[in-house]
Amino acid sequence: MSFNLHNRSLLALKDFTPDEIRYLLEMSAELKRSKAVGNEVQRLKGKNIALIFEKPSTRTRCAFEVAVHDQGGHVTCLDSGSSQLGHKESLKDTARVLGRFYDGIEYRGFLQTVVEELAQYAKVPVWNGLTDEMHPTQILADLLTMQEFGEKPLHELSFCYLGDASFNMGSSLLVGGTQMGMDVRICSPTDLQPPAELVAEMRELAKTTGARITLETDPLKAVAGADFLYTDVWVSMGQVDTVWQQRIDQLLPYQVTTALMQATGKRSAKFMHCLPAFHNLETEVGRQVHEKYGLSEIEVTDEVFESDASVVFTQAENRMHTIKAVLVATLG
Ligand code: CP
Ligand code: NVA
Repeated sequence: MSFNLHNRSLLALKDFTPDEIRYLLEMSAELKRSKAVGNEVQRLKGKNIALIFEKPSTRTRCAFEVAVHDQGGHVTCLDSGSSQLGHKESLKDTARVLGRFYDGIEYRGFLQTVVEELAQYAKVPVWNGLTDEMHPTQILADLLTMQEFGEKPLHELSFCYLGDASFNMGSSLLVGGTQMGMDVRICSPTDLQPPAELVAEMRELAKTTGARITLETDPLKAVAGADFLYTDVWVSMGQVDTVWQQRIDQLLPYQVTTALMQATGKRSAKFMHCLPAFHNLETEVGRQVHEKYGLSEIEVTDEVFESDASVVFTQAENRMHTIKAVLVATLG
């Protein structure tokens, strides 16, 4: 299977067809193998790539940096604290400047419309490194991870995403799972479900991909038979701290516990999380939440996070292999 993705941006997973996504996943697996055996071919020699972060990042930034380095290219990292972006120069102007210097631009920020504007004005491929609405490079890593641990084609696998499904992760997993024809379960209180318009669009797409989409409020019902349980933080970057109390009240029944893992009825069920995760008191936010609200683990218990069922670090590693595939396919 081969596709020409040259010069394409990745702003949302919807920008690519299911076959193009399968092609990227195949390429990711191939790049992962070649890095492991040390025969990686460099296809980004002479390419310059800008990484813009208006929100913090560990995995996405490092994945882009290592992927570009492995492939022989160069990166420049920019944030609003160390560049003119936002304070003295609009994104539109920044885009037109960076588009003259760089072969491609990664952007992490707030609104999806901003990354779209960046792509429109930069005229070079732009890759979305997370917005409030979408996190497409994360989903590619998640799909690769499910493929690796599920030991079946994706359309024969099921996952259940639990927690705040109204933000980037809930929406992006809904899109990626639907495109791959999976059994997609989204489990959250009704007011934290993905946007209704997106759900309707995905239900329509499911008719062609064969995906089964379930929106469920009851965690025990939602997880029955699921191959993967997936959760994310209850309060995302850019959301106000004052929502913590409400989120805890609403989402505590959706916390991923050993009992919930067992409720899948599958001994092989795996736990996934895009990370960072609040599973103990070793983070500043974790300690603040503990002091204020008394919780010592939040969206997932430490027992599940540290269990053999947890595949979160392979998932994190796969960010790099999948981002590398996107870069090679769109620039190489
Ligand atoms: N999962 C993820 O995007 O991690 P970072 O915020 O560390 O990039
Ligand atoms: N929903 C989280 C994802 C982090 C990778 C956030 O936006 O903060």
